[in-house]
Amino acid sequence: MAVLEGESNMIARYSTVVCLLSSAFNYFYWTGFYLVDFKKHNELVIGPYQGTLGCLRIPFGKGVCGLSAETKKTFIVSDVHNFENHIACDINSQSEIVVPVLDKNSNLLAVLDIDSTELDAFDEIDKSGLENICSLLIT
Ligand code: SME
Repeated sequence: MAVLEGESNMIARYSTVVCLLSSAFNYFYWTGFYLVDFKKHNELVIGPYQGTLGCLRIPFGKGVCGLSAETKKTFIVSDVHNFENHIACDINSQSEIVVPVLDKNSNLLAVLDIDSTELDAFDEIDKSGLENICSLLIT
């Protein structure tokens, strides 16, 4: 990704991707990264984001983000109200996609979380595009 060329700082890279995604897609209501907190055991901490106030910490296994972190898999939730494990940070969110960010050894670094105010906003095209973007984040 040209705008990230020559920049190895991960916060700079995450922030730039959040900015590009959230300004490119009107239906992205909340766009951000939760980062693995390597000082804690299996816990995510809020990273760069655009949108309304996000939860600060999410344990692995909790919420859609925590499930993605635990399994290192992408989750598409078409209706958050029908997803038992969803953590509601903002009542306006209706659907969500969470994509893991893995390093070259498949260690988890972060998850990319995108919420929409529309139901069923995310599909397989979003999944493959966002997974590709997350793979380009790795230096
Ligand atoms: N809904 C997420 C929590 C983070 S916020 O949406 C910003 C989840 O269930 O993991």
